[in-house]
Amino acid sequence: MKALTKGLIAAALASAALLSQSANAFWGSSKDDQLKLGYLVKQPEEAWFQTEWAFADKAGKKYHFDVLKMAVPDGEKTLNAIDTLAASGAKGFVICTPDPKLGPAIMAKAKSYGLKVVTVDDQFLNAKGKPMTNVPLIMMAASEIGERQGQALYQEMQKRKWDVKTTAVMAITADELDTARRRVDGSIKALKASGFPAAQIYRVPTKSNDIPGAFNAGNSLLVQHPDVKQWLVVGMNDNTVLGGVRATEGQGFNASNVIGIGINGVGAISELSKKEATGFYGSLLPSPDIHGFKSIEMLYKWVEDGKRPPNMTKVKDVVLITRDNFRAELKKKGLGNLLNN
Ligand code: GLA
Repeated sequence: MKALTKGLIAAALASAALLSQSANAFWGSSKDDQLKLGYLVKQPEEAWFQTEWAFADKAGKKYHFDVLKMAVPDGEKTLNAIDTLAASGAKGFVICTPDPKLGPAIMAKAKSYGLKVVTVDDQFLNAKGKPMTNVPLIMMAASEIGERQGQALYQEMQKRKWDVKTTAVMAITADELDTARRRVDGSIKALKASGFPAAQIYRVPTKSNDIPGAFNAGNSLLVQHPDVKQWLVVGMNDNTVLGGVRATEGQGFNASNVIGIGINGVGAISELSKKEATGFYGSLLPSPDIHGFKSIEMLYKWVEDGKRPPNMTKVKDVVLITRDNFRAELKKKGLGNLLNN
């Protein structure tokens, strides 16, 4: 009996020692004295954000800091993540917020812990719904990239010599997200400027920014326009356009009468790798590599050298990737490891 008690005590002590070792590793001692910075993203399932994380890690390796990667799909998880970051001794974080309206709450919490904040992709909104322009932001040039989408769709339509009279635009919108609204508006503006009839451009809002949401939105639009023979699909990113294209397929359309062009590029790889072409013609590939690396590099320099990043950094470079060139273009950007073959 006595021996058993002793054994139990020894085991308890041993596990306590183990616990305190792992606690040390978490709370920061020995090699973990290295600077920690967070990278919080709203949709970790998107290739876009996985790519940002991968390039944030590259910056971490270069400058010797740890990147704490956290998924923040909603407001509660976001605020909890900030508590966890502060408890782990992090000095700041990069964030793509799940909801721009969380901006003031995120900033208040970050301030209470003395954490520095750099936003990426989606801009915070204040209580009045206006952009919080005093929080450093790195994002794609939304209107310009949207315009490129509209121009590329029009050019491809002309190349195929489609009859404009029987062609329509399915524009899947997400207007509550400013970057999405600006991309889609830019695309529609460019289509009109090229000469596409405004009356044949139909907008439909998606309830969620994913393939199923866009699929439902696309379906509800298609049933209202049974006479359309060819569709151009506009949306704020690859998943939105993929959802729209899937909806057209459900109504019997295919690669010969649908042209969809996404935005993000990295979310289009498996679609463009398919043996047979689909209505998803291509995607505009911006620079998730730059967003991921530069956002956290700016944060690092702010924490280390007190060099505050500019309020706005716009990333403009974009290339149209299609089934013909996507492998080569991804490799050029150092994203070749995303290709599975
Ligand atoms: C938004 C979208 C993402 C991606 C980024 C790029 O956050 O939801 O899919 O396009 O913008 O800035």
